[in-house]
Amino acid sequence: MNRSFPPLFLFLLLIGCARNSEPTTVATETADDDWWKESIVYQIYPRSFQDTDGDGIGDLNGIIERLDYIESLGVTAVWLNPIYSSPNDDNGYDISDYRNIMTDFGTMADFDRMLAGMHERDIKLIMDVVVNHSSDEHEWFVQSKSSRDNPYRDYYHWWPAEKGDPPYRYSLFDAEGNAWKYDSTTDAYYLHYFSQKQPDLNWSNPKLRQEVYDIMTFWAEKGVDGFRLDAFQFAAKDTTYPEFPGLTDTTFIDYYAMQDGLHDYLREMNEQIFSKYGVMSVAEGAGRNFEDAHALVDADRQELNMAYAFDGVDVPKYGGYALTTMKEVFSRWDAEFAEDGWLSIFLSNHDQARMVSRWGNDSPEFRAPSTKLLNTFLLSMRGTPYAYYGDEIGMTNIDFDEIEDYQDIAARNGYTKARAQGKDMEQFMRELNFLSRDNGRTPMQWTEGPQAGFTTGTPWLPVNDNHAQINVAAQEDDPNSILNHFRQMTRLRQDHPVLVHGSYELLLPDHEELYAYTREWEGVRMLVVMNFSDEGVTVDLPELENAEVVIDNYESLSRTGSSADLNPWQAVILSL
Ligand code: NOJ
Repeated sequence: MNRSFPPLFLFLLLIGCARNSEPTTVATETADDDWWKESIVYQIYPRSFQDTDGDGIGDLNGIIERLDYIESLGVTAVWLNPIYSSPNDDNGYDISDYRNIMTDFGTMADFDRMLAGMHERDIKLIMDVVVNHSSDEHEWFVQSKSSRDNPYRDYYHWWPAEKGDPPYRYSLFDAEGNAWKYDSTTDAYYLHYFSQKQPDLNWSNPKLRQEVYDIMTFWAEKGVDGFRLDAFQFAAKDTTYPEFPGLTDTTFIDYYAMQDGLHDYLREMNEQIFSKYGVMSVAEGAGRNFEDAHALVDADRQELNMAYAFDGVDVPKYGGYALTTMKEVFSRWDAEFAEDGWLSIFLSNHDQARMVSRWGNDSPEFRAPSTKLLNTFLLSMRGTPYAYYGDEIGMTNIDFDEIEDYQDIAARNGYTKARAQGKDMEQFMRELNFLSRDNGRTPMQWTEGPQAGFTTGTPWLPVNDNHAQINVAAQEDDPNSILNHFRQMTRLRQDHPVLVHGSYELLLPDHEELYAYTREWEGVRMLVVMNFSDEGVTVDLPELENAEVVIDNYESLSRTGSSADLNPWQAVILSL
């Protein structure tokens, strides 16, 4: 299997290599405390959802204002990207105070009202926990770097300069790609797998671990229902730093992910937080292989509930992807977890370009059917689905021309690095245009009006010009809109446990345009048939005979007996 290393796109942007794969899940009944298996999660990038104070940055009051909308989607949980105090080197993934709300986003009182508003609507809240690293502006790091004998020194990883150059480690966000940064105050280097402003925390230090559990306790006691662990598979480090063979070596991941100690830390976190407060846990990343993925989510091991792997979202490349590869990757993950374990499923998030631009066809002709098709897929697979804000209305990539247009540190530093390496910069910009994380972070398109109704000020990242056509208001009352199709799909999933728990069987594995599978649970069987192409396709499947259509992204399905003529990007679910 392909190894599941985090920000896949980072490898496309910063290294130029790529890989593939994604998640899926279980069977059998769910206990009440397994609510997360039946959840439909809606991911909100708070910076871009709704601004209420005119500073061009989304805020918690904006989320509060939109709670009825969120409820109307039929989702049952919200995952919020980090909202804690941060200097925003990496848009909140560099935290300077874990117990405070970023001023841009509002106050703790706003947070409390937002959480209460979600709970009134039976919506759970999942918070991002970013503890592989902190901000370099966090008090721990300020202390740690101040002297070699400071009590916080061992909260981070330091390499004294008198030992010579530190053993090379790769940094995902550094413009020079080096994860060690020299600091003259104590004549030593500190480790940062991400940007220089994101020093890695030392998880082998029990005091640091207790600090993290205290922070999680603080949020759990506020009533937060789940935690998403950012980049956690990197948290344990092999501090003997064996010589690194380089990024092109297929074993490179073995130097970064799932190092000794990680499972112990997760079990300790589970004991102190997850099981004590009954909160759900999901890790970004599913380890290096299926064995790791199983170990992370195996209920008997008492570590995590879910993980999300990257093989699926790695499938679409600049220049297209083969549907057969997509089917293979998603089916492989499903098979692996069919009997045991539970994973999550997603097609986009804040680290990915927009779903329809990568997996579908975002042209005016096919945008609507292909978005509906992708939502049909997302919401009819096994595993907990994570839908990303804006995908319920078919938001697309934005078309930036210049590097200055990009805000993301990965894009900017990736550009500097590619130029220093003498790469073909035209090709780099074309790929960035397609794959950049900024594509997935443009403001939510509420209306066709100024700044799409996101802000009365100047948005921190431009609003996509296509908000004139693609916006919530235009789709709200149209029964055939992408938005209302999304709502029908969430209802269907909620009303049919077969779509949550049922076994999955892939049909027509070698077909290059059609993705078809059955789901079966407790005597109920459903068939999903989707045409992933711009052309009509005829399909012949014995299952089609006498099957009853339960949802269709076109007005009707043209069929006779076991044969059906599918329109471009048509997606149908039938009851068998
Ligand atoms: C993964 C997050 O999803 C991404 O947005 C962030 O840049 C890195 N982890 C570093 O925290």
